[in-house]
Amino acid sequence: MKIIVTGGAGFIGGNFVHMMLEKYPDYSIICLDNLTYAGNMETLSPVMDNPKFKFIKADIADRAAVYKIFEDEKPDILVNFAAESHVDRSIEDPGIFIQTNVVGTGVLLDACRKYGITRYHQVSTDEVYGDLPLDRPDLFFTEDTPLHTSSPYSSSKAGADLLVMSYHRTFGLPVTISRCSNNYGPYHFPEKLIPLIIANALAEKQLPVYGKGENVRDWLYVEDHCHAIDLIIHNGRVGEVYNIGGHNERTNLQVVKTIIKELGKSEDLITYVTDRLGHDMRYAIDPTKIHDELGWEPTTLFDEGIKKTVKWYLENKSWWENIISGEYQSYYKKMYSDR
Ligand SMILES: NC(=O)c1ccc[n+]([C@@H]2O[C@H](COP(=O)([O-])OP(=O)(O)OC[C@H]3O[C@@H](n4cnc5c(N)ncnc54)[C@H](O)[C@@H]3O)[C@@H](O)[C@H]2O)c1
Repeated sequence: MKIIVTGGAGFIGGNFVHMMLEKYPDYSIICLDNLTYAGNMETLSPVMDNPKFKFIKADIADRAAVYKIFEDEKPDILVNFAAESHVDRSIEDPGIFIQTNVVGTGVLLDACRKYGITRYHQVSTDEVYGDLPLDRPDLFFTEDTPLHTSSPYSSSKAGADLLVMSYHRTFGLPVTISRCSNNYGPYHFPEKLIPLIIANALAEKQLPVYGKGENVRDWLYVEDHCHAIDLIIHNGRVGEVYNIGGHNERTNLQVVKTIIKELGKSEDLITYVTDRLGHDMRYAIDPTKIHDELGWEPTTLFDEGIKKTVKWYLENKSWWENIISGEYQSYYKKMYSDR
């Protein structure tokens, strides 16, 4: 079995590459990634010597490059993690989100159609459903919830999902889509909430929290997410969408306070900053379908997962300290210096 993993130098894709190589020693895994600011070869360094692993630097929107890879490698499965993934950056510069997330997905689908594939899997997000009100804790996103996006990021992901489904209906391409809630865990890029708070708290720097910190996210430990994708690509029904979420809802402020407590720091570091434009209030997933059909359930509860994550960041400082220097510095100043 040969699997192309796009975006495998990023957070979730990197964890997926590690898991698949360990779980299926007979499989060949090819990572296709163009190493944007979010891609990091250090994430892949533990597997670079594995003879079953290959890294290819390429842009998923580069048709000639992608076709060449398909011709050379003849993959059985493609799992598309590659994306511009940060909502804040999509508000600053939507164009690259349309290019990678929509055009890039289109190129991958065309390649699968041209060269053949047993499964194309699209890694999507619960953000395509928009948000839920805070005063309706009884509501959850199901696979039938209408798409109703808020940001250029979520709109580009929803556009990609529609394209994927159209290639199934029109051309019979064997596709699946998963829509997951917010992930956390090892190798998470330091501009996202949980690693940012860990890094800043360790440095006794201010901990920026949007608005009043009331926004609710359904936190999913990254290994649970990777396990769900593994089940879907092997046993999921073609043409289906599967929601992945862990019933681990927390407000942003609860998350920040949990990390502060874990690190033994002071809550005085919390600084409330101007809210994100169009900020979604609450995401919450109903994972009944993937549970009933594929037997998936999350194994890591938030309180345990956050401990493991903090421990990982403490033990792998060089991984994130390298990232915190460089391009990330200017991004950070732009986003938070005037607030
Ligand atoms: N992180 C989350 O909480 C979350 C939640 C739901 C869904 N998702 C989805 O999961 C996927 C992975 O998310 P992540 O957090 O690991 O993202 P990430 O930003 O950490 O990594 C993205 C990776 O894609 C690569 N990439 C970007 N543009 C590319 C291009 N044009 N060609 C080739 N490679 C390119 C980057 O170099 C990077 O390695 C994304 O599709 C995202 O929409 C993420």
